[in-house]
This record gives sequence, structure tokens and C-alpha cells, in this order.
Amino acid sequence: MSADQIEVFAICHAESIAPGEARSFRLSRRTEDGEVRPFPIFVVRRGGRDFFGYVNACPHNGTWLNISTGGFFNRARTHLECGRHKAQFDIESGLCVEGGCKGKSLTPLALTVIGGDVCLCGVPLAEDDQPRNPFDEPDETMEITSIRDERMLINGSASSGAPMAERQ
Ligand code: FES
Repeated sequence: MSADQIEVFAICHAESIAPGEARSFRLSRRTEDGEVRPFPIFVVRRGGRDFFGYVNACPHNGTWLNISTGGFFNRARTHLECGRHKAQFDIESGLCVEGGCKGKSLTPLALTVIGGDVCLCGVPLAEDDQPRNPFDEPDETMEITSIRDERMLINGSASSGAPMAERQ
């Protein structure tokens, strides 16, 4: 892979997330040292085609947003909400607008939709070959497809946070 290309990984089918809903994924990523570390994320779909991705870690103390409720939204579904202390986050920017981490942001991810799949850009994911604990949280565990061929490599860098245009 050349320096002006980024890796893209298909995370799920776009239609597997209903408009207005969110799904969590437990991924693994490779650090610069080559170590494999857990990389929990979630993806929110707004409207028909806008997807927003964030690392699933509350900036207040690092827990998963869906830690106790299993969900990602406040009751009115106007904001993302942390299940632990109820911090409220803007859905499209990840900025905390209320709560113990007000003014801080969720870590955004660069997403794009390619051929009907929601894809994560620019994060070196690792295939997770660990056996799954059947008593774990019922996360929607991804079937990661590493997209490494020329057809799916995207030139340049992807912006963070904002949804990217769907590619056909
Ligand atoms: S851990 Fe999220 S608001 Fe406290």
C-alpha cells in the first residue's frame, strides 16, 4: 500500500442499522508497536444515508456509553447519552453538551459507505480470532472484512466526524 492510500474495513451492511438507530461493534486494532488492542466503536445512522462513528468510550471516565442501558440515546433521542452518569452528546459532532465532561468530545471515526457497506477508514484493524464469550454483552459483533485490494482502497485522507458521501 502506498503512502497516499488508507486502509478501509467494511464493518456492516448499511441497511443493518435502521435510520435513527445505533449499533456497537467490538473491534481490535493494531497499535504502532504492532500490539492488538480492543477497539470498541459504535455507529449511528441519521436520516437515510448519514452515518456517524465514534470510539465507544465516554470522555468522562472511559466507560462504554451503553454500559448500563444497552442503548446510546437519551429518552427523547435528541442526544447520545452515557449510561453511567448521563452525559449528553451531540449526535453529529460528539461534543458533550451536558454532564461531567461538558465541552469534551467523543472520539470521531471516519466512515464511508461503499457498495452498501459501512466502512471504517484509516484505522489499522486486526482480525479478532479470540473465541467469543457467549455470556458477553450482546454486542452486534462485526464480521470485519479487510478491504485491501486496489478496488476498495481510497486515496487521500478521510475527514473525521462528518459523514462522507456514499460511494457506489
Ligand atoms: S462515565 Fe460517562 S458520564 Fe460519567
